[in-house]
Amino acid sequence: MSTFGAKKVLFTSGKGGVGKSTLSTAFAKILCAEGYNVLMVDCDVCLRTLDIMLSVSSLVLYDWYDVIEGNVDARSAMITTGGPKLLAAPTCEVDITAEKMEKLLRIYERDFDYIILDCPAGVGEVFDACLAVSDLALIVTTPDNVCVRSASVAAAKADAAGKEVRLLINRFQKGITSSGRALNLDEVIDATGVQLIGVIPEDKSLVVSMLNGELVDPNTKSIKAMERVIKRLNGEYIPLKI
Ligand SMILES: Nc1ncnc2c1ncn2[C@@H]1O[C@H](COP(=O)(O)OP(=O)(O)OP(=O)(O)O)[C@@H](O)[C@H]1O
Ligand SMILES: [Mg+2]
Repeated sequence: MSTFGAKKVLFTSGKGGVGKSTLSTAFAKILCAEGYNVLMVDCDVCLRTLDIMLSVSSLVLYDWYDVIEGNVDARSAMITTGGPKLLAAPTCEVDITAEKMEKLLRIYERDFDYIILDCPAGVGEVFDACLAVSDLALIVTTPDNVCVRSASVAAAKADAAGKEVRLLINRFQKGITSSGRALNLDEVIDATGVQLIGVIPEDKSLVVSMLNGELVDPNTKSIKAMERVIKRLNGEYIPLKI
């Protein structure tokens, strides 16, 4: 898909529960606070998530598959939140292909600076369709062997598809590597073979703000780390701060 209009950023991981939805939502909210127009597409088919994280569950009437199928117009399916606009995920299995995803994003891409796709766990059909329409794949992993192996699989597929790929290490805790099976940063980078774009610390305040659907608190360490990720993606040289 040609890069025209919005930059399409995919949050993916292979393994579930590593923080894709949390970090993609924080990423979107920070971009909105910086003045960008951002659309989030909840790609977690059957397990809709982002409407809760963005506190708009009661406003969801349609999902993005309704737009693809022509059941609703593009504007009516889009949900306004305090930050990004949202396209909710379908709540049942749908027949999704790269062509359909491309058709969907073409409808919206001129109106936004960023379209953020929050992928479900796994590297199946939905992942393939999301990857096909993305410009940049952010591979989220926690620093442990199980997640790193899955991240490597997702990264290899993204790389083979010719996408820009970057690694986002989440829930990092200093000093824990020697005590258990957690890996250090170099081990994660070596095992995935992906260029690091940021390290997000374990942060309870991020969990609380996401649960409450609050706006991001710029004073928390995880949000500061995400802000540095955005700066690096925009070409600024920002040293790693752990
Ligand atoms: N930096 C962090 N510090 C502490 N907790 C975190 C952090 N990032 C995510 N979490 C927590 O990890 C859990 C999983 O997060 P999230 O739902 O974002 O993962 P996911 O990768 O989207 O999961 P799924 O694969 O099921 O979609 C949540 O309870 C979330 O609050
Ligand atoms: Mg998720």
